[in-house]
Amino acid sequence: MTIQSEKKILPYCRLKSGEVWVDPTGQHKIAVLDAESKKDCQLISKDENVDLFIQDPPYNIAVGNKNTQQLSRINIEEYIIFSKKWVQNSIDIMSKDSHFYVWLGADQKRGFQPLPEFMILMRKYEELTSRSFISLRNQRGYGTQKNWMAVRQELLYYTKGDPFFKVAYTDIPKVLKGYYKTINGKVTDNLERGKSETIRPGNIWLDIQQVFYRMEENIPGAYAQKPLKSIERIIKTSSKKEDMVADFFAHSGTTLIAAEKLDRRCITFDRDPVFAELTIRRLAVGKSISGD
Ligand SMILES: C[S@@+](CC[C@H](N)C(=O)[O-])C[C@H]1O[C@@H](n2cnc3c(N)ncnc32)[C@H](O)[C@@H]1O
Repeated sequence: MTIQSEKKILPYCRLKSGEVWVDPTGQHKIAVLDAESKKDCQLISKDENVDLFIQDPPYNIAVGNKNTQQLSRINIEEYIIFSKKWVQNSIDIMSKDSHFYVWLGADQKRGFQPLPEFMILMRKYEELTSRSFISLRNQRGYGTQKNWMAVRQELLYYTKGDPFFKVAYTDIPKVLKGYYKTINGKVTDNLERGKSETIRPGNIWLDIQQVFYRMEENIPGAYAQKPLKSIERIIKTSSKKEDMVADFFAHSGTTLIAAEKLDRRCITFDRDPVFAELTIRRLAVGKSISGD
């Protein structure tokens, strides 16, 4: 979204900075707030704790063109100061047994920042345990003839306490035989032993299509939209019905839409009123959009 189109859309945004909107069912809250502000994060959560965080902060990688807002790069020290604030604000409202997912990128032209610095920062939070380093393989990438095409998105997974986790499966049929094991004296292969017809995603997700303009779920103007299917996978594995899901960087509202589809409650906000408005409007049609 360019600065000019943002100016044109602002008068149509129902929320101003600091305002919270509650959806008619009372299940979800959407707001224009700042993830760096403790007061803002407590304003939206009230006394409720969060069972599952799915955070997708800006990656400190410049994308788009010079007219585009919110996409500029700051130095890594500033980026880590920003990260410390929103991470602490999240931890302050996590339930005793809860999950914390964060999407991040690595700028291959600049020493892969901010991924390594962010991972090291996360070691300082003793209440969180590192659990998995997931890569989503984007089918569409960028690259040149002189480098490997960049097709990955990183997703870090941490937990607090001992939360519920339900194993996930992809839609990819099990076809490869292998992994022989002797059970009760009989040699068996993985196809005989497996409980499911399809394979598990593991920590490399190959089966999810990055959102692009020809897809039904594409939201025009959203430059960093996550595939609904990826958020649904996180929610299904790491929460139960009615649990509280939170996302401090709403953008196109993907976390909210997935939470609504799967009967979870959700609190979400963006510091940009245009994206909060986009999120509210997407909720109205979201249920009809498929992530499968
Ligand atoms: C990478 S996008 C999130 C994409 C989202 N997961 C989706 O699928 O649409 C990051 C968003 O964070 C917002 N943002 C940046 N700094 C923020 C802050 N301090 N507080 C709240 N939102 C912020 C930006 O306006 C942008 O919409």
